[in-house]
Amino acid sequence: MTAENFIPKKYPNSVENGSYTWTSPSNIALVKYWGKKANQIPENPSISFTLNNCKTTTTLSFSKKESDNYFSFEVFLDGEKKDDFKPKIETFFNRVEIYLPFLKSYHFKIETSNTFPHSSGIASSASGMSALALCLMSVEKKLINDVSEENFIQKASFLARLGSGSACRSLEGDLVVWGKHDKIDGSSDLFGVKYPFEVHKNFKNYQDTILLVDKGEKQVSSTVGHNLMHGHPFAQERFNQAEKNLSDIILILKNGDLDKFIALVESEALTLHSMMMTSMPYFILMKPNTLEIINKIWAYRNSTGSKVCFTLDAGANVHVLYPENEAAQVLEFIQNELVTFCQKGEYINDKIGFGAKLL
Ligand code: DP6
Repeated sequence: MTAENFIPKKYPNSVENGSYTWTSPSNIALVKYWGKKANQIPENPSISFTLNNCKTTTTLSFSKKESDNYFSFEVFLDGEKKDDFKPKIETFFNRVEIYLPFLKSYHFKIETSNTFPHSSGIASSASGMSALALCLMSVEKKLINDVSEENFIQKASFLARLGSGSACRSLEGDLVVWGKHDKIDGSSDLFGVKYPFEVHKNFKNYQDTILLVDKGEKQVSSTVGHNLMHGHPFAQERFNQAEKNLSDIILILKNGDLDKFIALVESEALTLHSMMMTSMPYFILMKPNTLEIINKIWAYRNSTGSKVCFTLDAGANVHVLYPENEAAQVLEFIQNELVTFCQKGEYINDKIGFGAKLL
């Protein structure tokens, strides 16, 4: 499979106008994507839990226009016009136009809303870009007629990746792999695929409570962060490590080995942050409260034998991961000991989910 496979032949149907709404979730990586080649190709494979409650809902309305030599679109967030979102979408349209040659034939109205606060520091690019890619695929489906469910999702994930790498892991659930890996049949650098192997019941309905430590704009955009891996002294070792961690997690997920899961997931999070600390220029993306929370989690685990652990994105917020059978105790621990380190005491309870839906 190559990117050229996603270039459509001539569209048999003509469509004047219409509207589609998709809702698509965010995801949290266990083995992280950090570093990319040209055209949004990841340097290493990654795997994520799809989330359930952190979602973007996007309605795409489209109508045929006279001229087809420019993009025409407007964007709304929660009903308010958002011109500052336009450059990112314009870049996305430019990247995907060859795969969606109808893009310049229509005017688009993109209306979007998130279940989580926009300024929560939670990445909306994964849920936002996947929802938009799915809406565009619904338009293409109308122009083509017969698209199999599998081809539809695969191309939507391919397109979402061109918007934001991690977005290609948001369409399905409950675990999605992106990036070619020898041990995972069907895995690809071009799109995300559902994790194909057995998963132990320990991981069913896994919980993720997101502690909002810093709700501001990201200090370093992920694009800048990924770029810092070029020429990074430890880059190649890191890519090898991610490759190995993905191999190792296959057995961990099968056997339900929570101790090994914790070690792998926490090490991935800290490695991601250490890559940022050892790049040039260097950054510390954690805040003091991020470390307070990590230490509290470690102390709680030591004293109770709990299997709670943490992971981090490229920011200060903490994702607290734990098995469903510990939900009551861990939530009590979070409320008693961790919420105090959150900005305005805010946190979001989420859990593993099953991907995007057409509304
Ligand atoms: C730390 O997918 O946001 O969340 O492709 O530049 O849009 P772009 O990057 P993005 O990077 C996410 C990085 C991460 C780890 C992960 O989700 O795997």
